[in-house]
Amino acid sequence: MIVLVSRPSFPVKWVDGAGTMDLVEQKEIWDAETARRYDTPGTGMFAPEVLGPAVDRLASLAGGGAALEFAIGTGRVAVPLAARGVPVSGVELSPWMVEQLRTKADEAAIPVVLGDMATTHVPGEYTLVYLVFNTISNLRTQAEQVKCFRNAARHLVPGGRFVVELGVPALRKLPPGQDAVVFRNDPGYVGVDVYDVLRQELVSHHFTFGDGRQARVGSGRFRYVWPAELDLMAQLAGFELESRHADWSGAEFTAESESHVSVYRL
Ligand SMILES: C[S@@+](CC[C@H](N)C(=O)[O-])C[C@H]1O[C@@H](n2cnc3c(N)ncnc32)[C@H](O)[C@@H]1O
Repeated sequence: MIVLVSRPSFPVKWVDGAGTMDLVEQKEIWDAETARRYDTPGTGMFAPEVLGPAVDRLASLAGGGAALEFAIGTGRVAVPLAARGVPVSGVELSPWMVEQLRTKADEAAIPVVLGDMATTHVPGEYTLVYLVFNTISNLRTQAEQVKCFRNAARHLVPGGRFVVELGVPALRKLPPGQDAVVFRNDPGYVGVDVYDVLRQELVSHHFTFGDGRQARVGSGRFRYVWPAELDLMAQLAGFELESRHADWSGAEFTAESESHVSVYRL
C-alpha cells in the first residue's frame, strides 16, 4: 500500500512508457476527478495517527474561538475540527474540492468562500487561521506568499494565530551537479522532487506502476520556502514566531526535520 504522508495528491493520468504529462495550473489541477479521488478515509493523510494530533493541536490553538482554514479542500481537517466543537470556515479555489466537502458538511456547518487564499476575505472574526499540508507552496511567487500572510493577519483578532504546516526543502540532499531527490521509493511507487535552486521552484513527480508497461504519472509545481524566509514573511504581516515543532505532537524541530508546524502570533 502506498501511504503519502507528506505530499499532496496530484492529478494523474496513464501514459505510455516514457511519456510525460504537461504541468497544469492550480485550478486545472484540482479538478473533479482529483477531488473525487482525494479522500482516503482511514489511510494516508486521513489516517487517525496523522489527523488526530493535527486536530487536537488546532483545537487547542483556537482557544475557544473560531478557525479559518485556507485551502480547505474536501475538509480533511475542517470536518473533524468542527466535530470537536470549533466553528470552522474556509477559503478554497476549487469548486470540485468544495463539492466533496459538501457531501460531509453543509454551508451552515462549515461556510466556505470560493477564492484565492492570498486575497479572499471571509466574513467573521477568528482566533486561528491555518494552512496545512504544504499548501503555502502552491502559491508560486514570494509576493503571493507574503500576501497570504497578510490575508491571514486581517482575519485574526489581536493575539490570534496563523499556523503553517510545511516541508523543509531537501536542499541538503543535493550534491553539486544534481537537481533531483527521490523522496519516496515504495513497491509500485516512486516519488521524485526536482529542484530549480535559481528560481526557488520544486516539481514533484509521482510515478505509480501498474501491470505491464504503463505507469501513472502525476506532477505538481511549487515554490519551496525555507523556514527563515517564512518567518520573515510572517514579520512583514505583523506576526512573530510563537513555536516551531517537527510535527503536530510537538516533537523537537531539528536540523534533520523534514517538515515543521509553525505557529505565528499576531
Ligand atoms: C493538498 S490540498 C490540501 C487540502 C486540505 N487543506 C487538506 O489538508 O487536505 C491543496 C488545496 O489547496 C487548494 N488551493 C491551491 N491553491 C489555492 C489558492 N491560491 N487559494 C485557495 N486554495 C488553493 C487546492 O484547490 C486544494 O484543495
